[in-house]
Formats: sequence, C-alpha cells, structure tokens
Amino acid sequence: MIKFYDLYNLDKKIHNKILSKIKKIFNKGDYILGNEVFSFEKKFSKFVGSNYAVSCANGTDALTLSLKSLNLPTNSEVIIPAMTYCSTAFSILNAGLKPVLVDLDINKPTIDINQIKKKINSKTKVIMPVHLYGSTSNLSGIKKIIKSSKNKIYLIDDCAQAHGSLDDSSKNNKKIGSSADISCFSLYPGKNLGAYGDAGIITTNSKKYYKILKNLRNLGSDKKYIHNRVGYNSRLDTIQAAILNVKLKLLKENNKKRRIIAKSYEKFLDNKKITKLIYSKSCVFHQYIILSKQRKKLIKILNHNKIQYAFHYPHAIHQLKALKKKFPRQKYVNAERIANEGISLPIDPNLKKNEIKKIIKVINSF
Ligand SMILES: Cc1ncc(COP(=O)(O)O)c(C=O)c1O
Repeated sequence: MIKFYDLYNLDKKIHNKILSKIKKIFNKGDYILGNEVFSFEKKFSKFVGSNYAVSCANGTDALTLSLKSLNLPTNSEVIIPAMTYCSTAFSILNAGLKPVLVDLDINKPTIDINQIKKKINSKTKVIMPVHLYGSTSNLSGIKKIIKSSKNKIYLIDDCAQAHGSLDDSSKNNKKIGSSADISCFSLYPGKNLGAYGDAGIITTNSKKYYKILKNLRNLGSDKKYIHNRVGYNSRLDTIQAAILNVKLKLLKENNKKRRIIAKSYEKFLDNKKITKLIYSKSCVFHQYIILSKQRKKLIKILNHNKIQYAFHYPHAIHQLKALKKKFPRQKYVNAERIANEGISLPIDPNLKKNEIKKIIKVINSF
C-alpha cells in the first residue's frame, strides 16, 4: 500500500522530544497562553519575516478573527477564489460579511486576477486570495488592483496550505505571510506545519492589527477580567505550541522533499489522458493535483495498484450544499474542472523513490 500521507512515520523521530516537552508543561501547569505559545509566535513570525504573529485555535478562526479585526460594515464584500476549502467562505459569513467568487486561472490553482476587477464595487472591502496547494497567488498583481481602486480594500491572504512558499510575484521573493495586511495559517495536523490537534496562526506587520487580534482571540481581554471587546475564545494550547516549536525545525527539510517529489511528477508524468496543473515557482506542494477527464478509470487503476489518493476539493464553493443558494446560476469553469477532474497524488515527504516510480508508471500506463 502506498499511503497518501503517513504522519506517524514522518514524525516518529521527534516523538520522544515532544513527550519530554509535554512532561515539562505538566510540571509547570501553564496550559493556557504559556511560554511555549509566545516562543512559537516569535519563531513563526521570524520564519515568515513578519513583524508580529498571533496564534489561535485553528485556521478557520485565523480567517474569522482577521476579518473581525477590520471592523467592517455588515455585508461588506470579500472576494475569494471559487475553489478553496469551505473555511475561506464560512469565515466570511460567520464574520457577517458576503463572499464574492472569482474563478481560478486556467490550469492554475489560484485566483484569476484579470477577473477580480469586474467584481469590485463600493461594497468591496477585502480581497482574500488563497495559496491553494502551496502555490502562491499573484500578490503583486492584486496589490496593483487595490492601489488603483477608489475605495480602501484590504488584502488578507489564506496561507493555510503555504507555510514556507515565497511570493513569486514580487522581486524580493519574500515569504508568504509577510506582505499582506494580514495573513492566516492553519496548523491542522496534515498541513506542511501541523500540530497534534487544531491550531492556527495569524501574521501581520501592523502593530494596530496585532494588538486587536491578540485581544480578540482572548475574549476581548488584555488583562484578566477586563473585557473591552466581544471577543472569541480562540487561544492556541500551550501543549500544541510545544509540539509546533519542535516541528517548525523540520518544515524546511520537509518542504524540500515535497518539491523533489513534485519535480519527478512534473518531469516524468506523461499521458494524454491527464493534465498537469501549473504551480508557482516556489510552491511547497501541500498537495499535488492532476486533472483527468477519465478520473473514474484512473481511480480504479490506482485502487487496483494500492495507491491512495484524495480530492481537494470535490466541490467548488458555489457547489457546497450549505452555500448553493447564495450563488444561484453562477458558473466557474476552472474551479468546477478541479472539482470534477482533479485527483490528489501522494506527496508525503517520506515517499520512497520506488514508490514515486510506481505511481508515475501506473498513471502513465492507464
Ligand atoms: C485553504 C484553507 N483555508 C482554511 C482552512 C481552515 O483551517 P482549519 O482546518 O485549521 O480550521 C484550511 C484547512 O484545511 C484550508 O485548507
């Protein structure tokens, strides 16, 4: 069996280190907002090159808190790509705002910036690109659109799948998470950097938003029993932060391994029945997706050869049961194509060479 992702195997060399750190937390008892939390925030902001980082309970909350921190009028519009995880859209609705969809670029997993302008009006307050699969959106292009717009528009990027990717659209190649107004990361276990439970982190260069976000994630409180905002209970557990402090050290190496596997797929996958997506130059390949009009047949062959696969995602945002009614008669062909034809191949950093070869051979011969 070639597993889709083997987290146990990936982390087994650090399990003992993590256990001894957790034992130390037992002795201290600082389970909520303990030292490990602040140390992780410092290390993560240093890693992405942002001035500040505020950890929180999960990636969905990271997005919701960020939107809430802007204090926008109800029903302000937020532009997002039509293909992303449900959380991108749900966070907008839960913050009392309105998601507006834009299709993906053809054969790319990121928002088509040429179609963004058509969706901007006086209610547009945020553009929220998603660096899907670790492939970076054209941030410089989006910043130009924002600059040329009459009203104030914020840039919040959903970096849930892009820990360590670079902003390929800028000359200075800064890391994702360092150049938007606010950037949101998920630290869900299966992410490139993942905790052993739910976790998330927000980065920003703005002291103003840093202060608001810190307050919002702690029930609107900077001082015990003083609550100056209606906030959220969305703190990162000290134990999860301790795990993340150990795992952050492995991120660079694991991203490198993901890139090497993706390079093999790019070079050696060769079959007219499949289409390879175009990923950004510094993509960290949270997932590697190919498209096939004959997906059912391909799945059968992968099953037969005991190769695990997944779908990211089988429904575009306007196709989700919970959201269908909000986007009547809307069509986004490139997003729908990924939903209908996309299949995610194993990209576990520890895949063996012979396993990668087998995956390529099976796909090339179907
Ligand atoms: C693109 C995207 N946005 C947001 C999220 C939400 O993160 P979480 O699951 O940590 O709430 C995810 C997680 O899967 C994601 O992939």
